[in-house]
Amino acid sequence: PAVGVPMPHESAYQHVTGTALYTDDLVHRTKDVLHAHPVQVMKARGRITALRTGPALTVPGVVRVLTGADVPGVNDAGMKHDEPLFPDEVMFHGHAVAWVLGETLEAARLGAAAVEVELEELPSLVSLRDAMEAGSYHGARPLMETGDVDAGFADSAHVFTGEFEFSGQEHFYLETHAALALVDESGQLFVQSSTQHPSETQEIVAHVLGVPAHEVTVQCLRMGGGFGGKEMQPHGFAAVAALGAKLTGRPVRFRLNRTQDLTMSGKRHGFHATWKIGFDADGRIQALDATLVADGGWSLDLSEPVLARALCHIDNTYWIPHARVAGRIARTNTVSNTAFRGFGGPQGMLVIEDILGRCAPRLGLDPRELRERNFYRPGQGQTTPYGQPVTQAGRISAVWEQVKEDARLADREREIAAFNAAHPHTKRALAITGIKFGISFNLTAFNQGGALVLIYKDGSVLINHGGTEMGQGLHTKMIQVAATALGIPSHKVRLAPTRTDKVPNTSATAASAGADLNGGAVKNACEQLRERLLRVAATRLGGNASDVRLAGGTARLLGGDAEIGWEELVRTAYLQRVQLSAAGFYRTEGLHWDAKAFRGSPFKYFSYGAAATEVEVDGFTGAYRVRRVDIVHDVGDSLSPMIDVGQVEGGFVQGAGWLTLEDLRWDTGDGPDRGRLLTRAASTYKLPSFSEMPEEFHVRLLENATEEGAVYGSKAVGEPPLMLAFSVREALRQAAAAFGPAGTVVKLASPATPEAVYWAVEAARRAEPSP
Ligand code: MTE
Ligand code: MOS
Repeated sequence: PAVGVPMPHESAYQHVTGTALYTDDLVHRTKDVLHAHPVQVMKARGRITALRTGPALTVPGVVRVLTGADVPGVNDAGMKHDEPLFPDEVMFHGHAVAWVLGETLEAARLGAAAVEVELEELPSLVSLRDAMEAGSYHGARPLMETGDVDAGFADSAHVFTGEFEFSGQEHFYLETHAALALVDESGQLFVQSSTQHPSETQEIVAHVLGVPAHEVTVQCLRMGGGFGGKEMQPHGFAAVAALGAKLTGRPVRFRLNRTQDLTMSGKRHGFHATWKIGFDADGRIQALDATLVADGGWSLDLSEPVLARALCHIDNTYWIPHARVAGRIARTNTVSNTAFRGFGGPQGMLVIEDILGRCAPRLGLDPRELRERNFYRPGQGQTTPYGQPVTQAGRISAVWEQVKEDARLADREREIAAFNAAHPHTKRALAITGIKFGISFNLTAFNQGGALVLIYKDGSVLINHGGTEMGQGLHTKMIQVAATALGIPSHKVRLAPTRTDKVPNTSATAASAGADLNGGAVKNACEQLRERLLRVAATRLGGNASDVRLAGGTARLLGGDAEIGWEELVRTAYLQRVQLSAAGFYRTEGLHWDAKAFRGSPFKYFSYGAAATEVEVDGFTGAYRVRRVDIVHDVGDSLSPMIDVGQVEGGFVQGAGWLTLEDLRWDTGDGPDRGRLLTRAASTYKLPSFSEMPEEFHVRLLENATEEGAVYGSKAVGEPPLMLAFSVREALRQAAAAFGPAGTVVKLASPATPEAVYWAVEAARRAEPSP
């Protein structure tokens, strides 16, 4: 199908029949593979005083133990050069200090258990609070300022202050980190990796091995989910496999088991926020002064850009004339926190939504009313706190009003009031929240994409592009883009796995920009080919190239019946020695960002959405149900509506998991297990499942939403819907408040687990009636 037509995911059939191959499935097609197993040290922090590998080598089947001494290049796995691949100091509970290669996984595991590590234990900072009290920070300290904050507070009729600390989130992609590396027939390193960022994996592998990038090829077949967790974290793992392959001459694979993945890989950053906010007499925000501290974990990884995005999203859909927001990154002895769907945006937006949810009763306003009063307004030249004009502010109320209508808001609010009046121990509430999410990488240079499109003599088309497929449907969209741009049926187009030797220097498939960037590049390559083919068609049909239309696999001359089919056209072009391949390129125009001043217009556009969620809370236990969710989301003119609706549903549910169920816990005590991740399996880390799905779930895409200047009028979709789940949290807050007197202020922990909701209900019951 062309763009805009619903098409199932290109691998849907393989996904559901179990025939889709993932990185680790390739092991069975590879001979003489060695298995790599990490040597994890189970202490929160300590200096390594001795590392004895000898005992491991006596274990039958152990072939080699990789340590820092084996690294021919640089012993570092990160882009910030603060992530030794083989560390001298253990920085978190479960840190891998060496890797054992074995003939079988079991041999490697036993070998790893036999490695002896002596440690001089050092004091550790496990919680964000520990780190803040100790003044343990690293990396950038951004400051975002606009207007005159002091004057803004002076003009405010109401000023409130508060504090809010909330948890991170485990990615829990179905496929854990995996790589398979081998020295290929040409003597180069070929690394199969489950990575969202093959070019950077290539860069780090080359770095560690001390070879130029052209000696390393990285391929990502597909991922069983990435969600940001495979944007930067795969590199070091891939480097271990590559190092092993180079040193032994044999293919080396690893795939972390679930507990290894949970204890070794970074998660969404938890944050701590302190804030002061001023409102005028009508509840309009005048000033905001806030400090956000992200829990970066032991190394920087992507913490700086994640924090920048958090700051850039603290305004969400609201105009804040005077703002001062500072950011810091705490350094803790835990895994290195990293990208996770929304990339800091959700954390920034959660802070303002929490503030509004807490302040509404104190202002005597319905939370919905308070939110509406503060929306950016079209045509008033309002800018974000970092200086970007909000050009499509009208979309905020467009999605908002649509969702109110879809959700039959007025009727249901009446029904809920009647229900609550009749039920002292069960309360319902309906909350609406909206989102505005900036699309593009803050760092301007990343906003480029490349593609290589090949047409073979038989008319079949093969596409390579720089984006990776993690289930989000990027490849499906690229097939639709190519079919549309070339004017042929989509079954003639096939997508090749992502490889660094086809398209170089690619950006991570991240920031939801995959379809924008790679779609732009694929379209560009196809348009070059189309131009050439139209000229060929014109000579054959006897007319001007500008009068030839190529659609549905046939080229026709305007105003005549002369036509030529795609296959014949391609063959003719070949015989005329017309080049049938093209490299495509795309760069997002009009972006600028000054990271130091924290100002600019880093985003090509904003994506918008609104959700209305109804919950029911049981006052005896805090248990709750999500009764109904209505969503209206803006994806411009959808490239692939089925894919986009799937992304909205999945994103929403993942967000609801973060905010209500998923509860990361570490051992913060002073015992021998200090720093241990307690929630290290699906049995203790509760993910959303069928039983937590909204009982009624309505998703619709905003209509007539063409986005000028983006590929076929479409907008990005991957991350923004996650933040629609704020509506679940705010509905829980309102339901808890309904157990107290009118105007009860509810502080709600995040995640709002049934236990947290229970305590919020208890507090509401004891609240004094407001004067
Ligand atoms: N959807 C699925 N099924 N699996 C994923 O791993 N990752 C999300 C989102 N949707 C993800 C997903 C994240 S974090 C991003 S940034 C985008 O997809 C990346 O893909 P895109 O740029 O093509 O939207
Ligand atoms: Mo997504 S967090 O930008 O990989």
